[in-house]
Amino acid sequence: MTAPTPAPGDWRQWAANAVAEIDAAGLRRRRRNVESTGPAQQVSVDGRAAINFCGNDYLGLAQHARLTAAFAQAAAAGAGSGASHLVTGHHPLHHALEQRLAAWTGRERALAFSSGYLANLGVVCALAGRGDAVLEDRLNHASLIDAGLLSGARFARYAHADAAALAAKLSATPARRSIVVTDGVFSMDGDLAPLPALAAASRNAGALLIVDDAHGYGVLGATGRGTLEHFGLDEAAVPLAIGTLGKAFGSYGAFVTGPAELVELVLQRARSYRYTTALPPAVAAATIAALDVLDAEPWRRARVLDLVARFRQRAATAGLVLAGSPTPIQPILLGTPDAALAASEALLARGFMVAAIRPPTVPAGTSRLRVTLSASHEDRDVDALVDALAEVLALPVRDAG
Ligand SMILES: Cc1ncc(COP(=O)(O)O)c(C=O)c1O
Repeated sequence: MTAPTPAPGDWRQWAANAVAEIDAAGLRRRRRNVESTGPAQQVSVDGRAAINFCGNDYLGLAQHARLTAAFAQAAAAGAGSGASHLVTGHHPLHHALEQRLAAWTGRERALAFSSGYLANLGVVCALAGRGDAVLEDRLNHASLIDAGLLSGARFARYAHADAAALAAKLSATPARRSIVVTDGVFSMDGDLAPLPALAAASRNAGALLIVDDAHGYGVLGATGRGTLEHFGLDEAAVPLAIGTLGKAFGSYGAFVTGPAELVELVLQRARSYRYTTALPPAVAAATIAALDVLDAEPWRRARVLDLVARFRQRAATAGLVLAGSPTPIQPILLGTPDAALAASEALLARGFMVAAIRPPTVPAGTSRLRVTLSASHEDRDVDALVDALAEVLALPVRDAG
């Protein structure tokens, strides 16, 4: 459908037509008011009780008493940071958080950003520019893709999780310096990047490898240090890693961690660091508490991975087709936006919140339900979700209207 062209200057009609086009394609986003109502991912969704099976609170830390107490205590001294880090917004709690993140990741230095989106823009644009090349997995998170485009470098995507395709692009590029960027765990598919092979290809070409481990930190590896720990990769293999703090850490914000010189250059150059307000110090306090809990309660990691195994085993028995993901992200591909929306709504009617993920977040034809598991889910809720999925996916697809 092509919306009728409005009269020149009729911006209101122009915007309404554009939204109508999005709607007609089944791609309109609607927000729901979601509020936590209980410890086991119980939520109220526009007033309706449900279990949340699509958040990123993988370890169930967002409501943890140590985080909320640290947050409340620090917030008593002030709600906001009042300025950017390089003016007057850099608080001792930000400094303490960076030191803890550097130690926790085993790197020389860490720099905290106000969100993962800002971290990705800042890091890539600080390190690559005109004359350089940025090579990215084609299924990287949108913030990394945007960063590569914004950097002004030659930007290319390689086939998903394909180190040979990366090596071919690296050997063909005329750029003086190349930067390779990949998700550690792919956010909409849950699979892992083949980091050892990507690291080898990058090293052979003298390229800098950066891993965004937003969904790996806290969950993967023997001590929760993410995909790098899972694969046993050190700083020589992956010089820079980025983590977000709004997922397994249960808080908010992000960080980059690595060699002091590279982190200092990011601090000096990243516009998304310089030109934005620093995180509220209370958020840094909550994240420091999260780091304590992550190490003090390793059972949370084991628990969420047990639930992943339980979900996968029961889903297979019920005849559901899952992707090969070993992580708490368990997508169920349905194809069209309408099919994904209909399934999501039918699940909500049964008390389960599972968002429909549609283009442009995922490639056309791969709209899906993105089921995620958390250490705070109950066994019985996971079992009931599988039953509901089996029932719902047998339903005819609703006409989206
Ligand atoms: C892989 C990845 N990187 C970065 C981000 C952005 O992080 P934030 O939500 O903190 O902006 C996300 C998700 O939000 C993500 O999935």
